[in-house]
This record gives sequence, structure tokens and C-alpha cells, in this order.
Amino acid sequence: MVTLHHCLPSITGQHRRPVFPFKQRPIRCAAAAERQELFNRIAPVYDNLNDLFSLGNHRIWKRMAVSWCGAKEGDNVLDLCCGSGDLAFLLSEKVGPHGQVTALDFSKEQLQIAASRQQVRSKPCYKNIKWVEGNAVDLPFSNSYFDAITIGYGLRNVVDRPKAIEEMYRVLKDGSKVSVLDFNKSTHSITTSIQDWVIDYVIVPVASGHGLASEYEYLKNSIKEYLTGDELEKLALEAGFSSAKHFEIGGGFMGNLVATR
Ligand SMILES: C[S@@+](CC[C@H](N)C(=O)[O-])C[C@H]1O[C@@H](n2cnc3c(N)ncnc32)[C@H](O)[C@@H]1O
Repeated sequence: MVTLHHCLPSITGQHRRPVFPFKQRPIRCAAAAERQELFNRIAPVYDNLNDLFSLGNHRIWKRMAVSWCGAKEGDNVLDLCCGSGDLAFLLSEKVGPHGQVTALDFSKEQLQIAASRQQVRSKPCYKNIKWVEGNAVDLPFSNSYFDAITIGYGLRNVVDRPKAIEEMYRVLKDGSKVSVLDFNKSTHSITTSIQDWVIDYVIVPVASGHGLASEYEYLKNSIKEYLTGDELEKLALEAGFSSAKHFEIGGGFMGNLVATR
């Protein structure tokens, strides 16, 4: 079983040294603590419902997000808000056994599922993933530490998004990229209406069969309170990134921001 906190191996070389030993700082914001609880509660069914609701397409979008982050063999990369680890496993295949993947989340339950999936998977490269319990707005890593970052369906759920983007900028090396996959907050009313309909009449009823109606009702508001592609690009540029481009994917229902430090 992979331990969650102080699991990164010590790496020599000044700029490759994480800030450790690391103790998770308590989540002080009530809204963030509520979201942490929510993701703990949905953890047991999260993967199955993702497959069902996206008809398996989330696997394609995650591959696209990983390819856009520019990770290559031997890189030291970070997956933020990793949940049960889908993007971390894909990153691991990209960077190979000589690379290193750090996957961070603030939900213990999601991390436990990720660690158990790692145990039953046989590809040797998967041994290069370390799971870290932590907060995306207060990353326990030194400056300019990573060659690439992914964050899938995470930024929308982070309460202080500007701070999270600033943290990504801080821990990325110059010239490296972050790839931010999430639902698209579309500016087209037809797309928004279809998205709302699917949430109200498919996602919430199915989730209520698992006793998780309110958890999935949260999805609709979280998309409404999220940022449009243009706003995401602006947020990244304000955090210091030299370029930022948002791509609509999945028929406009999903979006992926790519920002270069
Ligand atoms: C919708 S899940 C996405 C999981 C995974 N990336 C995927 O694409 O399947 C969002 C994840 O973000 C995590 N999360 C939300 N806010 C966070 C924060 N401030 N710090 C760390 N993790 C956070 C939640 O615990 C949850 O596991």
C-alpha cells in the first residue's frame, strides 16, 4: 500500500527537491472543506459514473489533456486534483519508468482508490507515481520543480482559482505547460441548455440511485460559477503565463486550457 503523505523519494539536486517532510495544512475555508467532504463521499462510485455519464469519452479527453501538457520521457510531472488517478496513470505512461509523476488531491478516499488501482496495475512505469495528500492552493513543492502539469475536472472545484493558477505557475519550470481539462462553460445557449438538461434529467436521477443526488446537483452550479474559455485564458495570463489558449472539445461540452510559463 502506498502511503499518502511523505511518500516522495528524496531527490538530490537543488531544483528537484520537494518541500518535505510535508504535513497537510488544515483546510481553513468552509466551502473548500465542504467540497473535500463531497469528493470523499462520491469516491466509491466516481469512476463508474464517469464512464456511464460520458459513455467512456472522458478517457479520450484525458488523453488529449495529457498530450497537450507536453510531458515527455524522463520528465518530472504533476497531476493536480488527481482523484482516483486517471490522468496520473496516463502521465506515467508518457514519462516512463525514468520519469516521475506526483499526483495530488485533498480527498483521502480518492487517493486510497488511486493507490489501490496502482497496486493492481502491472505496467512497470506505474511504480513512478507518488500520491500526495495536499491542497492545490498551497502546493508543497519548491519553485520551478515540474516539467509539466495536468489538472482534470479540478480547477472548477477549487474555491480560490487565481491562487491555484499562481501555484501552478510557481512550481512549473520556464517554458513548461499546464493543461487544464474541465467542463466547458459555453457561451452558446444551446450547448448550455443541453448541458443543463443532461445534468437534471440523466446525471442527477442516476446519481440519486446511489444516494448522491445533492452531490451531483452541485455539478450544474459549479459549471455556471466556472470560467469561460476567454476568462480562463485571462486568468492564466494574469498569473504570469506567457501564453494561454482554450480549446473546446467534446462537441463544446468540454474545454481544455493550455498555458505556457
Ligand atoms: C471531479 S474530481 C477529478 C478527478 C480526476 N482528476 C479525474 O479527472 O477523474 C475533482 C478532484 O479535485 C479534488 N480537489 C478539489 N479541490 C481541491 C483542492 N483545493 N486541492 C486538492 N484537491 C482538490 C477533489 O478531491 C477531487 O478528487
